[in-house]
Amino acid sequence: MPNWPDTRLVDLLGLRHPIIQAPMAGASNPSLAAAVSNAGGLGSEGLGEATPQRVAEAIEAIRARTNAAFNINLFVNPGAPPLVGHKLRAWRDALMPHYRAAGLGDVPAADRGAPVTPSAEMIEVLLQLRPPVVSFHFGLPEAAIVARLKAAGTIIISTATTVAEAIALEAGGVDGIIAQGWEAGGHRGSHRPTKPGDGVGALALVPQVVDAVRVPVIAAGGICDGRGIAAAMALGAAGVQLGTAFLRCPEASTEPAHRALLETATEIDTMVTDAISGRAARAVRSAFTEAMTGRDVAKPAFPALYDFTWPLVETGEASFHLYGQAAPLARTLPAAELVETLAQEALERMGALSGRRG
Ligand SMILES: Cc1cc2nc3c(=O)[nH]c(=O)nc-3n(C[C@H](O)[C@H](O)[C@H](O)COP(=O)(O)O)c2cc1C
Repeated sequence: MPNWPDTRLVDLLGLRHPIIQAPMAGASNPSLAAAVSNAGGLGSEGLGEATPQRVAEAIEAIRARTNAAFNINLFVNPGAPPLVGHKLRAWRDALMPHYRAAGLGDVPAADRGAPVTPSAEMIEVLLQLRPPVVSFHFGLPEAAIVARLKAAGTIIISTATTVAEAIALEAGGVDGIIAQGWEAGGHRGSHRPTKPGDGVGALALVPQVVDAVRVPVIAAGGICDGRGIAAAMALGAAGVQLGTAFLRCPEASTEPAHRALLETATEIDTMVTDAISGRAARAVRSAFTEAMTGRDVAKPAFPALYDFTWPLVETGEASFHLYGQAAPLARTLPAAELVETLAQEALERMGALSGRRG
Protein backbone atom coordinates (compact mmCIF):
# COMPACT_ATOMS: atom_id res chain seq x y z
CA MET A 1 0.00 0.00 0.00
CA PRO A 2 1.49 3.40 -0.88
CA ASN A 3 2.38 5.62 2.03
CA TRP A 4 0.08 8.65 1.73
CA PRO A 5 0.65 11.31 4.42
CA ASP A 6 -3.09 11.61 5.10
CA THR A 7 -5.14 8.40 4.97
CA ARG A 8 -8.57 9.71 6.05
CA LEU A 9 -10.03 9.66 2.54
CA VAL A 10 -8.47 6.38 1.42
CA ASP A 11 -9.68 4.79 4.67
CA LEU A 12 -13.20 6.25 4.34
CA LEU A 13 -13.63 5.10 0.74
CA GLY A 14 -11.40 2.00 0.72
CA LEU A 15 -9.05 3.40 -1.94
CA ARG A 16 -5.38 2.84 -2.74
CA HIS A 17 -4.94 6.46 -3.85
CA PRO A 18 -6.79 9.57 -2.58
CA ILE A 19 -7.62 10.54 -6.17
CA ILE A 20 -11.22 11.09 -7.28
CA GLN A 21 -12.00 11.28 -10.98
CA ALA A 22 -14.53 14.11 -11.05
CA PRO A 23 -18.05 13.38 -12.16
CA MET A 24 -18.47 15.16 -15.50
CA ALA A 25 -22.00 15.05 -16.86
CA GLY A 26 -21.62 14.26 -20.55
CA ALA A 27 -17.91 13.37 -20.40
CA SER A 28 -17.77 10.74 -17.65
CA ASN A 29 -19.35 7.32 -18.17
CA PRO A 30 -19.43 3.90 -16.46
CA SER A 31 -16.30 2.63 -18.29
CA LEU A 32 -14.20 5.62 -17.20
CA ALA A 33 -15.51 5.42 -13.63
CA ALA A 34 -14.85 1.69 -13.36
CA ALA A 35 -11.34 2.00 -14.85
CA VAL A 36 -10.44 4.62 -12.22
CA SER A 37 -11.96 2.60 -9.37
CA ASN A 38 -10.18 -0.56 -10.50
CA ALA A 39 -6.91 1.42 -10.52
CA GLY A 40 -7.35 2.34 -6.85
CA GLY A 41 -8.90 5.82 -7.21
CA LEU A 42 -12.59 6.71 -6.95
CA GLY A 43 -14.38 6.72 -10.30
CA SER A 44 -17.43 8.92 -10.65
CA GLU A 45 -20.34 9.16 -13.03
CA GLY A 46 -21.89 12.62 -13.42
CA LEU A 47 -25.60 12.24 -13.99
CA GLY A 48 -26.69 15.83 -13.32
CA GLU A 49 -30.44 15.86 -13.68
CA ALA A 50 -30.77 12.48 -15.43
CA THR A 51 -33.88 10.34 -14.95
CA PRO A 52 -33.98 7.80 -12.10
CA GLN A 53 -33.96 5.04 -14.72
CA ARG A 54 -30.73 6.33 -16.26
CA VAL A 55 -29.18 6.54 -12.81
CA ALA A 56 -30.20 2.94 -12.07
CA GLU A 57 -28.70 1.80 -15.39
CA ALA A 58 -25.44 3.64 -14.69
CA ILE A 59 -25.10 2.06 -11.23
CA GLU A 60 -25.68 -1.35 -12.75
CA ALA A 61 -23.18 -0.68 -15.58
CA ILE A 62 -20.45 0.38 -13.14
CA ARG A 63 -21.12 -2.60 -10.85
CA ALA A 64 -20.75 -4.89 -13.86
CA ARG A 65 -17.22 -3.51 -14.37
CA THR A 66 -15.84 -3.15 -10.83
CA ASN A 67 -16.18 -4.43 -7.27
CA ALA A 68 -14.51 -1.30 -5.94
CA ALA A 69 -16.20 1.84 -4.58
CA PHE A 70 -17.59 4.37 -7.07
CA ASN A 71 -19.45 7.68 -6.95
CA ILE A 72 -22.77 8.77 -8.43
CA ASN A 73 -23.13 12.54 -8.82
CA LEU A 74 -26.38 14.49 -8.98
CA PHE A 75 -27.34 18.14 -9.20
CA VAL A 76 -29.36 19.78 -6.44
CA ASN A 77 -31.83 22.29 -7.85
CA PRO A 78 -34.27 24.31 -5.74
CA GLY A 79 -36.48 24.78 -8.83
CA ALA A 80 -37.62 28.06 -10.37
CA PRO A 81 -40.77 29.39 -12.00
CA PRO A 82 -40.66 30.19 -15.71
CA LEU A 83 -39.63 33.65 -16.88
CA VAL A 84 -42.71 35.38 -18.28
CA GLY A 85 -44.01 38.75 -19.53
CA HIS A 86 -41.65 41.65 -20.18
CA LYS A 87 -38.69 39.79 -18.64
CA LEU A 88 -39.08 36.93 -21.09
CA ARG A 89 -39.49 39.41 -23.96
CA ALA A 90 -36.27 41.24 -22.94
CA TRP A 91 -34.38 37.95 -22.80
CA ARG A 92 -35.69 36.83 -26.19
CA ASP A 93 -34.74 40.24 -27.67
CA ALA A 94 -31.20 39.88 -26.28
CA LEU A 95 -30.84 36.50 -27.99
CA MET A 96 -32.34 37.57 -31.31
CA PRO A 97 -29.11 38.93 -32.91
CA HIS A 98 -27.34 35.65 -32.09
CA TYR A 99 -30.18 33.59 -33.56
CA ARG A 100 -30.00 35.75 -36.71
CA ALA A 101 -26.20 35.41 -36.94
CA ALA A 102 -26.53 31.64 -36.60
CA GLY A 103 -29.22 31.48 -39.31
CA LEU A 104 -31.70 30.11 -36.79
CA GLY A 105 -35.43 30.82 -36.79
CA ASP A 106 -37.25 32.31 -33.83
CA VAL A 107 -36.03 32.23 -30.24
CA PRO A 108 -38.21 29.73 -28.29
CA ALA A 109 -41.49 31.35 -27.20
CA ALA A 110 -41.74 30.01 -23.64
CA ASP A 111 -39.57 29.10 -20.66
CA ARG A 112 -40.45 25.78 -18.99
CA GLY A 113 -38.99 26.76 -15.59
CA ALA A 114 -36.66 24.57 -13.54
CA PRO A 115 -37.69 21.36 -11.75
CA VAL A 116 -36.75 20.58 -8.15
CA THR A 117 -34.05 17.88 -8.05
CA PRO A 118 -33.27 15.27 -6.86
CA SER A 119 -36.84 13.98 -7.05
CA ALA A 120 -38.40 11.67 -4.44
CA GLU A 121 -38.26 8.89 -7.04
CA MET A 122 -34.51 9.44 -7.48
CA ILE A 123 -33.94 9.13 -3.74
CA GLU A 124 -35.87 5.84 -3.73
CA VAL A 125 -33.60 4.51 -6.51
CA LEU A 126 -30.50 5.50 -4.52
CA LEU A 127 -31.89 3.90 -1.35
CA GLN A 128 -32.65 0.72 -3.22
CA LEU A 129 -29.38 0.43 -5.18
CA ARG A 130 -27.10 1.90 -2.51
CA PRO A 131 -24.17 3.25 -4.54
CA PRO A 132 -21.10 3.35 -2.24
CA VAL A 133 -20.72 7.13 -2.65
CA VAL A 134 -23.11 9.87 -3.77
CA SER A 135 -21.80 13.36 -4.42
CA PHE A 136 -24.08 16.34 -4.86
CA HIS A 137 -23.29 19.50 -6.81
CA PHE A 138 -24.90 22.89 -5.97
CA GLY A 139 -25.42 22.08 -2.28
CA LEU A 140 -27.28 19.28 -0.52
CA PRO A 141 -30.81 17.93 -0.44
CA GLU A 142 -32.64 18.38 2.86
CA ALA A 143 -31.09 16.84 5.99
CA ALA A 144 -33.66 14.03 6.26
CA ILE A 145 -32.70 12.76 2.78
CA VAL A 146 -28.99 12.91 3.59
CA ALA A 147 -29.68 11.00 6.83
CA ARG A 148 -31.66 8.28 5.00
CA LEU A 149 -28.94 7.81 2.38
CA LYS A 150 -26.27 7.60 5.08
CA ALA A 151 -28.35 5.14 7.09
CA ALA A 152 -28.49 2.98 3.94
CA GLY A 153 -24.67 2.91 3.97
CA THR A 154 -23.95 5.49 1.27
CA ILE A 155 -21.13 7.97 1.86
CA ILE A 156 -22.19 11.54 1.02
CA ILE A 157 -19.89 14.26 -0.28
CA SER A 158 -20.57 17.67 -1.82
CA THR A 159 -18.76 20.71 -3.14
CA ALA A 160 -18.03 24.04 -1.43
CA THR A 161 -16.68 27.12 -3.18
CA THR A 162 -16.48 29.20 0.01
CA VAL A 163 -15.77 28.58 3.71
CA ALA A 164 -19.42 29.34 4.58
CA GLU A 165 -20.60 26.67 2.11
CA ALA A 166 -18.17 24.16 3.65
CA ILE A 167 -19.52 24.87 7.14
CA ALA A 168 -23.10 24.45 5.85
CA LEU A 169 -22.19 21.10 4.25
CA GLU A 170 -20.64 19.80 7.45
CA ALA A 171 -23.76 20.87 9.38
CA GLY A 172 -25.81 19.07 6.71
CA GLY A 173 -24.09 15.78 7.54
CA VAL A 174 -21.60 15.18 4.70
CA ASP A 175 -18.73 12.72 5.12
CA GLY A 176 -16.32 14.79 3.03
CA ILE A 177 -16.14 18.19 1.34
CA ILE A 178 -14.78 19.01 -2.10
CA ALA A 179 -13.22 22.49 -1.94
CA GLN A 180 -13.52 23.71 -5.52
CA GLY A 181 -11.18 26.51 -6.54
CA TRP A 182 -11.83 29.14 -9.20
CA GLU A 183 -9.41 27.33 -11.57
CA ALA A 184 -11.80 24.39 -11.90
CA GLY A 185 -13.38 23.36 -15.16
CA GLY A 186 -17.14 22.89 -15.30
CA HIS A 187 -19.94 24.29 -13.19
CA ARG A 188 -19.10 26.12 -10.00
CA GLY A 189 -20.58 24.08 -7.17
CA SER A 190 -21.87 27.23 -5.44
CA HIS A 191 -24.96 26.51 -3.39
CA ARG A 192 -26.85 29.45 -4.91
CA PRO A 193 -26.46 30.77 -8.44
CA THR A 194 -23.64 33.30 -8.28
CA LYS A 195 -22.41 36.03 -10.60
CA PRO A 196 -19.77 34.61 -12.89
CA GLY A 197 -17.19 37.32 -12.15
CA ASP A 198 -15.46 36.32 -8.93
CA GLY A 199 -14.31 33.26 -7.06
CA VAL A 200 -11.66 31.94 -4.65
CA GLY A 201 -8.63 30.09 -6.01
CA ALA A 202 -7.77 26.67 -4.59
CA LEU A 203 -4.50 27.87 -2.99
CA ALA A 204 -6.51 30.28 -0.83
CA LEU A 205 -9.66 28.18 -0.40
CA VAL A 206 -8.36 24.73 0.55
CA PRO A 207 -6.45 25.62 3.77
CA GLN A 208 -9.29 27.88 4.95
CA VAL A 209 -11.82 25.07 4.46
CA VAL A 210 -9.44 22.63 6.18
CA ASP A 211 -9.30 24.99 9.18
CA ALA A 212 -13.10 25.40 9.27
CA VAL A 213 -14.34 21.79 9.21
CA ARG A 214 -13.49 18.42 10.75
CA VAL A 215 -14.45 16.12 7.85
CA PRO A 216 -11.84 15.27 5.20
CA VAL A 217 -11.38 17.96 2.55
CA ILE A 218 -10.88 17.07 -1.11
CA ALA A 219 -9.14 19.76 -3.17
CA ALA A 220 -10.41 20.45 -6.68
CA GLY A 221 -9.50 22.92 -9.37
CA GLY A 222 -6.32 23.25 -11.40
CA ILE A 223 -4.81 19.88 -10.43
CA CYS A 224 -3.63 17.87 -13.44
CA ASP A 225 -0.38 16.27 -12.28
CA GLY A 226 1.43 14.95 -9.21
CA ARG A 227 2.77 18.39 -8.32
CA GLY A 228 -0.79 19.64 -7.88
CA ILE A 229 -1.70 16.64 -5.73
CA ALA A 230 1.35 17.12 -3.49
CA ALA A 231 0.50 20.82 -3.18
CA ALA A 232 -3.11 20.04 -2.22
CA MET A 233 -1.93 17.64 0.47
CA ALA A 234 0.52 20.27 1.74
CA LEU A 235 -2.49 22.58 2.14
CA GLY A 236 -4.17 19.99 4.36
CA ALA A 237 -6.40 18.22 1.84
CA ALA A 238 -6.96 14.50 2.42
CA GLY A 239 -7.47 13.93 -1.29
CA VAL A 240 -8.07 15.51 -4.66
CA GLN A 241 -10.79 15.55 -7.30
CA LEU A 242 -9.60 15.98 -10.88
CA GLY A 243 -11.84 16.64 -13.86
CA THR A 244 -9.87 18.22 -16.70
CA ALA A 245 -7.00 15.73 -16.21
CA PHE A 246 -9.35 12.86 -17.18
CA LEU A 247 -10.99 14.49 -20.22
CA ARG A 248 -8.25 13.21 -22.56
CA CYS A 249 -8.50 9.58 -21.41
CA PRO A 250 -9.63 7.32 -24.25
CA GLU A 251 -12.42 6.00 -21.99
CA ALA A 252 -13.96 9.47 -21.52
CA SER A 253 -16.95 10.53 -23.63
CA THR A 254 -15.25 13.85 -24.43
CA GLU A 255 -16.48 15.01 -27.85
CA PRO A 256 -13.91 15.24 -30.68
CA ALA A 257 -14.15 19.08 -30.86
CA HIS A 258 -13.60 19.25 -27.08
CA ARG A 259 -10.58 16.90 -27.33
CA ALA A 260 -9.10 19.01 -30.14
CA LEU A 261 -9.33 22.14 -27.95
CA LEU A 262 -7.68 20.30 -25.04
CA GLU A 263 -4.71 19.27 -27.18
CA THR A 264 -3.79 22.91 -27.80
CA ALA A 265 -5.22 24.45 -24.65
CA THR A 266 -3.56 27.34 -22.82
CA GLU A 267 -4.16 28.63 -19.30
CA ILE A 268 -6.19 31.60 -20.56
CA ASP A 269 -8.64 29.97 -23.01
CA THR A 270 -11.53 29.70 -20.61
CA MET A 271 -13.84 32.02 -18.70
CA VAL A 272 -16.56 31.58 -16.11
CA THR A 273 -19.93 32.19 -17.71
CA ASP A 274 -23.57 31.73 -16.75
CA ALA A 275 -24.82 32.63 -20.21
CA ILE A 276 -25.22 29.07 -21.51
CA SER A 277 -26.69 27.01 -18.66
CA GLY A 278 -27.91 29.65 -16.20
CA ARG A 279 -25.25 28.82 -13.59
CA ALA A 280 -21.62 29.86 -13.49
CA ALA A 281 -19.35 27.38 -15.27
CA ARG A 282 -15.78 27.51 -16.60
CA ALA A 283 -15.86 26.89 -20.34
CA VAL A 284 -13.86 27.89 -23.40
CA ARG A 285 -14.56 31.48 -24.48
CA SER A 286 -16.81 32.16 -27.43
CA ALA A 287 -18.13 35.38 -28.97
CA PHE A 288 -21.50 34.55 -27.42
CA THR A 289 -20.18 34.04 -23.88
CA GLU A 290 -18.03 37.18 -24.15
CA ALA A 291 -21.07 39.20 -25.26
CA MET A 292 -23.68 37.76 -22.89
CA THR A 293 -21.78 37.07 -19.63
CA GLY A 294 -22.63 39.55 -16.91
CA ARG A 295 -25.27 41.29 -19.07
CA ASP A 296 -27.92 42.88 -16.97
CA VAL A 297 -30.90 40.98 -18.32
CA ALA A 298 -32.94 38.36 -16.45
CA LYS A 299 -32.53 34.83 -17.84
CA PRO A 300 -34.45 31.58 -17.51
CA ALA A 301 -33.00 29.52 -14.63
CA PHE A 302 -30.59 26.56 -14.81
CA PRO A 303 -31.10 24.20 -16.63
CA ALA A 304 -34.09 25.61 -18.57
CA LEU A 305 -31.75 28.17 -20.15
CA TYR A 306 -30.27 25.37 -22.30
CA ASP A 307 -33.53 25.30 -24.30
CA PHE A 308 -32.63 28.79 -25.51
CA THR A 309 -28.86 28.49 -25.88
CA TRP A 310 -28.32 24.93 -27.12
CA PRO A 311 -29.42 25.73 -30.70
CA LEU A 312 -26.64 28.36 -30.71
CA VAL A 313 -24.11 25.80 -29.43
CA GLU A 314 -25.17 23.33 -32.11
CA THR A 315 -24.62 25.88 -34.89
CA GLY A 316 -21.25 27.00 -33.50
CA GLU A 317 -22.44 30.56 -32.67
CA ALA A 318 -21.78 29.63 -29.01
CA SER A 319 -19.78 26.80 -27.43
CA PHE A 320 -19.85 25.05 -24.09
CA HIS A 321 -16.66 23.02 -23.88
CA LEU A 322 -15.88 22.80 -20.15
CA TYR A 323 -12.30 22.63 -18.90
CA GLY A 324 -10.08 24.21 -16.29
CA GLN A 325 -7.09 26.54 -16.23
CA ALA A 326 -4.58 23.68 -15.85
CA ALA A 327 -5.67 21.95 -19.07
CA PRO A 328 -2.21 22.27 -20.72
CA LEU A 329 -0.88 19.93 -17.99
CA ALA A 330 -3.36 17.16 -18.89
CA ARG A 331 -2.13 14.10 -20.75
CA THR A 332 -3.63 11.56 -23.12
CA LEU A 333 -3.36 8.32 -21.14
CA PRO A 334 -5.70 5.41 -20.40
CA ALA A 335 -7.48 6.12 -17.11
CA ALA A 336 -5.74 3.38 -15.09
CA GLU A 337 -2.31 4.51 -16.28
CA LEU A 338 -3.22 8.11 -15.49
CA VAL A 339 -4.24 7.25 -11.90
CA GLU A 340 -1.02 5.30 -11.36
CA THR A 341 1.12 8.07 -12.94
CA LEU A 342 -0.56 10.78 -10.85
CA ALA A 343 -0.07 8.76 -7.65
CA GLN A 344 3.59 8.02 -8.37
CA GLU A 345 4.35 11.63 -9.31
CA ALA A 346 2.69 12.91 -6.13
CA LEU A 347 4.42 10.41 -3.84
CA GLU A 348 7.81 11.14 -5.43
CA ARG A 349 7.26 14.89 -5.16
CA MET A 350 6.28 14.65 -1.49
CA GLY A 351 9.24 12.37 -0.79
CA ALA A 352 11.63 14.79 -2.47
CA LEU A 353 10.25 17.73 -0.51
CA SER A 354 10.52 15.97 2.85
CA GLY A 355 14.04 14.78 1.95
CA ARG A 356 15.11 18.34 1.32
CA ARG A 357 13.66 19.44 4.64
CA GLY A 358 15.51 16.75 6.53
C1 LIG B 1 -16.21 18.69 -18.45
C2 LIG B 1 -16.53 18.88 -17.00
C3 LIG B 1 -17.78 18.53 -16.53
C4 LIG B 1 -18.08 18.64 -15.17
N1 LIG B 1 -19.29 18.20 -14.72
C5 LIG B 1 -19.51 18.10 -13.37
C6 LIG B 1 -20.65 17.43 -12.87
O1 LIG B 1 -21.50 16.93 -13.64
N2 LIG B 1 -20.80 17.34 -11.52
C7 LIG B 1 -19.87 17.85 -10.65
O2 LIG B 1 -20.03 17.72 -9.44
N3 LIG B 1 -18.77 18.49 -11.10
C8 LIG B 1 -18.57 18.62 -12.43
N4 LIG B 1 -17.42 19.22 -12.89
C9 LIG B 1 -16.51 19.89 -11.93
C10 LIG B 1 -15.58 18.88 -11.24
O3 LIG B 1 -16.27 18.18 -10.24
C11 LIG B 1 -14.37 19.53 -10.58
O4 LIG B 1 -14.78 20.50 -9.64
C12 LIG B 1 -13.39 20.18 -11.54
O5 LIG B 1 -13.23 19.40 -12.69
C13 LIG B 1 -12.04 20.37 -10.88
O6 LIG B 1 -11.22 21.20 -11.63
P1 LIG B 1 -10.25 20.68 -12.82
O7 LIG B 1 -11.17 20.54 -14.00
O8 LIG B 1 -9.27 21.77 -12.95
O9 LIG B 1 -9.69 19.37 -12.38
C14 LIG B 1 -17.11 19.15 -14.26
C15 LIG B 1 -15.85 19.52 -14.76
C16 LIG B 1 -15.54 19.38 -16.10
C17 LIG B 1 -14.17 19.75 -16.57
